[in-house]
Amino acid sequence: MKFFVDTADVAAIKELNDLGMVDGVTTNPSLILKSGRDILEVTKEICDMVSGPVSAEVVATEAADMIAEGLKLAKIASNIAIKVPLTWAGLTACKAFASEGHMVNVTLCFSAAQAILAAKAGATFISPFIGRLDDINLDGVQLIEDIRTIYDNYGFKTEILAASIRSVNHITDVARIGADVITAPPSVIKAMANHPLTDKGLEQFLKDWAKTGQKIV
Ligand code: E4P
Repeated sequence: MKFFVDTADVAAIKELNDLGMVDGVTTNPSLILKSGRDILEVTKEICDMVSGPVSAEVVATEAADMIAEGLKLAKIASNIAIKVPLTWAGLTACKAFASEGHMVNVTLCFSAAQAILAAKAGATFISPFIGRLDDINLDGVQLIEDIRTIYDNYGFKTEILAASIRSVNHITDVARIGADVITAPPSVIKAMANHPLTDKGLEQFLKDWAKTGQKIV
């Protein structure tokens, strides 16, 4: 399973990347706003640091304008994945980008039907937003399962990038199903290391070690 980090915070990406935890990065307009940085500058900085795909999102709503924006974003670095929304215009732009050999991440996917269209339009990645489905009492993890079944039925090569991840359980749930990639905020990725029994066990070991009076170094 590949780990993408869902942020435009360069320091947070660096910390995880130095540990080998980063296979790619996803950004979106809200994350660029949160970073307070210029999209072209911060995306270039991320692309220089991370060797895997870095998603940068278009903001136009018409296909021709999306294509112009996407081509500009693709010039930032060879590891840019152009991110387009799952609209008819976005699918049109996806097809155009894919035909020219660009990586494309089709985002804002909320149904299996949408995911089929993205695969047929040549998407490199499909991003189903599981947390936002859970927010409205629908089952985000079930959507990943449905898309996995459908893509496998027909041999679609588009990678399932489970997005809008809110918890560690989301990650283990979609890993069990066979999502190809997860993208999660740095805090959720770091939370994967936590377990109360680890903390409790370590506390006991340290207490016992202190009683031995020994030192290792
Ligand atoms: C994915 O590419 C999106 O940037 C992201 O996962 C959206 O997550 P959110 O629903 O927490 O904003």
